[in-house]
Amino acid sequence: MIQIAVLGYGTIGSGVVEVLKTNYDSIAKRSGQEIQVKYVLDLREFPGDPIQKILVHDFTTILHDPDVEVIVETMGGTNPAYTFVKQALEAGKSVCTSNKELVAKYGPELLEIARLHNRNFLFEASVGGGIPIIRPLNQCLTADEIYEITGILNGTTNYMLTKMAKEGASFDAVLKEAQALGYAERNPSADVDGFDACRKIAILASLAFGENVNYEDIYTEGITKITDRDFLYAKAMGTAIKLFGTCRKTEGEPEQFFASVCPVMIGNDHPLFGVEGVLNGILVRGNVIGDVMFYGSGAGKLPTASAVVADVVDAVKHLNTNIMTFWSSKPLSLADIEKVQNQFFVRVKKYEADHVQSLFGNVAKITVPELPEEFAFVTEPMTEEAFANAAGQLDGLLGRIRIGH
Ligand code: HSE
Repeated sequence: MIQIAVLGYGTIGSGVVEVLKTNYDSIAKRSGQEIQVKYVLDLREFPGDPIQKILVHDFTTILHDPDVEVIVETMGGTNPAYTFVKQALEAGKSVCTSNKELVAKYGPELLEIARLHNRNFLFEASVGGGIPIIRPLNQCLTADEIYEITGILNGTTNYMLTKMAKEGASFDAVLKEAQALGYAERNPSADVDGFDACRKIAILASLAFGENVNYEDIYTEGITKITDRDFLYAKAMGTAIKLFGTCRKTEGEPEQFFASVCPVMIGNDHPLFGVEGVLNGILVRGNVIGDVMFYGSGAGKLPTASAVVADVVDAVKHLNTNIMTFWSSKPLSLADIEKVQNQFFVRVKKYEADHVQSLFGNVAKITVPELPEEFAFVTEPMTEEAFANAAGQLDGLLGRIRIGH
């Protein structure tokens, strides 16, 4: 019998307790022993919930209990999660977390502490909810040189963009729905402004390329400027609008990487075109394997809890063996966004027609009957800098979305 503790009895923490209870026998078979939750840590009380019997408010009770071998951290945020996780690893306990903020900020340091103590720091649920992606990157795609990883990494925004596209729903109404369904962060700005996807692509890129991607260096743009008007064009063009997190090797020497989070317009030939609702999709491109896709529930209580519990099983199976994870603290060199080539979907007021021709060449006009006072066009590939210079000269600029390839 293995004793574990769960830190934080919110959406994911309560999901972990539920999954461990629901699948108690099959999980015991897979881990080789029964797993029992000895403590749940939370500042709140839960009268009427059976959890109340094992609820503690002081982390040191868990830290100093030698029976606790594995700690699940589902509190979110970095304070006090970082201190608790570090102390737990230093005390020789393995930690499984869903906390992307913690992993993006302190991943290499916590992995090193786990390694020094022959324990494990596991974080499958930090990216892609229930989708296995951390373990595949760490264990299955190791024969490849990965040159690109691109994903729809935030369930809330994908749910919102899908509802806006399909039902013409308003931004605020769909955000409320995503919150009610338990997808959104406590502060939904983390979702809609792209910060959550930014932390996730930083984690994936660090694992894919082996060096640390500082999420603060990633160009990040959320979905708040996407309007119902953009979806009218998307529908007419047969395209979809998605929030992509991307990191890829740039062409040529010296070797550099480019990373961004931003909305993109994609055609129906893109592998991530059909990823809708709360689902996430992650496309990995390697020099030997070619393209691989990972797809599934990207947020929500039970899918995320499923990934956390799978980590608990792995931690139990490797109690005194560190599973090596390739993520050095050395910074990965990221290219300046200004120099990156992109194509842009652009909406302008009708009177800009001649100006558009002189700035962007002979681009085809796209019109929709609902918007007679404007038109749109797609640029040729150009650097971000060149686009910003040209677009800055258009008084009648209404919006722009990068084209995803
Ligand atoms: N708010 C996050 C999302 C939760 O919507 O993807 C899962 O990390």
